[in-house]
Amino acid sequence: MKLWGGRFTKEENQLVHNFNESLSFDQRLYRQDIEGSIAHVTMLEKQKIVTEEDRDAIINGLRGILTDVESGKLSFSTEYEDIHSFVEASLIERIGETGKKLHTGRSRNDQVALDMKLYIRDEIGEIDMLIKELLKELLKIMEENLDTYMPGFTHLQKAQPVTLAHHMGAYFEMFSRDRGRLHDIRERMNLCPLGSGALAGTTYPLDRDYSAVLLGFAGPTLNSMDSVADRDYVIELLSALSTIAMHLSRFSEEIIIWNSNEYRFVELDDAYSTGSSIMPQKKNPDIAELVRGKTGRVYGALMALLTTMKGLPLAYNKDMQEDKELTFDAIDTVKGCLALFTGMVKTISFRKDVMEASAKGGFTNATDVADYLVNHGVLFRDAHGIVGRLVLACLEKGIGLDELSLEEFRAASPVFEEDIYDAISMKSCVEKRTTVGAPGQEAMKRVIEIYKIQL
Ligand code: ARG
Repeated sequence: MKLWGGRFTKEENQLVHNFNESLSFDQRLYRQDIEGSIAHVTMLEKQKIVTEEDRDAIINGLRGILTDVESGKLSFSTEYEDIHSFVEASLIERIGETGKKLHTGRSRNDQVALDMKLYIRDEIGEIDMLIKELLKELLKIMEENLDTYMPGFTHLQKAQPVTLAHHMGAYFEMFSRDRGRLHDIRERMNLCPLGSGALAGTTYPLDRDYSAVLLGFAGPTLNSMDSVADRDYVIELLSALSTIAMHLSRFSEEIIIWNSNEYRFVELDDAYSTGSSIMPQKKNPDIAELVRGKTGRVYGALMALLTTMKGLPLAYNKDMQEDKELTFDAIDTVKGCLALFTGMVKTISFRKDVMEASAKGGFTNATDVADYLVNHGVLFRDAHGIVGRLVLACLEKGIGLDELSLEEFRAASPVFEEDIYDAISMKSCVEKRTTVGAPGQEAMKRVIEIYKIQL
């Protein structure tokens, strides 16, 4: 069944139909499509383009379709081209001739732009909730681990001691920015394309402001050609999803490293690990690896749509139908990853003793020895050289800086006193760092208060 058979003399070839159709995947827009149609006909009646009886019959018919689709009574028959054709044809079948008035002053071009905006708006809300759940979990770990010392790394080499709370706080920041990005997208896209018609508006006296209000938009879009040709909001969403996936992937990578036999910083819950078919001893971090791995398909969706859009002349082109499967897949993928990842984080156990022991090795307090010298009048560059030589001596002996004798310290610089040992203990290395954003407990507690307000 076609919406556009009039001008054609031949039946559509089946392969052409299969290639052209989108109902097999855009059927998931049925709720948004019906919501948009109800708003459209409500506006048509207000403008006296259809009668009250027409409006009521159409709205009842549309509501009936919604109920029947949701109960499974009405299924998406493959003869229809897309969700818009399906809903309109089902309406006409249900209420007769009156149903033919619904599409007055509308095109599938403004309709599909609206459906995608409504859908993305809903999904942004859900993705935001999932990120919030993860943030709550991270905050919990932070509050419980303000004094769980661990090495901080640069170049994957032990650098300076931090705390587990501080390390988790870095991810809290990343995912908070992701929420901010989603919020920005929602704000920017919140203009209603309905009433733009095929590309040049319509000759009917539509009230586009009214349609926009009915659908919860801030107002109507201001250029009808752009309204039907714009997919920036989809690209922006895919970009935000890519960044979320990238953050999840980095976090997964760390969990995989921390879970390795060499690190043993964490123990994954059995429910979030898998075994090997051949090696009985194995407990693998498959969930983290899959989350890391799925990042590729989310980036792929972004690249695919950017490429699809790059050569399109104004206004609507059928190429744009390609936005759907990849957007749906990217949304499903990221939502799945967020849910699984949060579950994994919830059940992970941190081996605090191993983390702390690791922080003690690797000269993570070397900077603090240099700072001690600076505080006793040595110039920083000279202090750096002195500590470098001390590290070299320690390496030869296979000991840590805090295991040097006071004589050895003094041989390197006469300013060293007995208090050097206290100054370079793990605790003071971390707790002296009290500027905002630093790992010291005092600083962390202030930041956690801000995070709580944000959530
Ligand atoms: N299925 C189409 C899409 O997703 C709907 C718009 C069709 N418009 C048209 N002029 N063929 O883009």
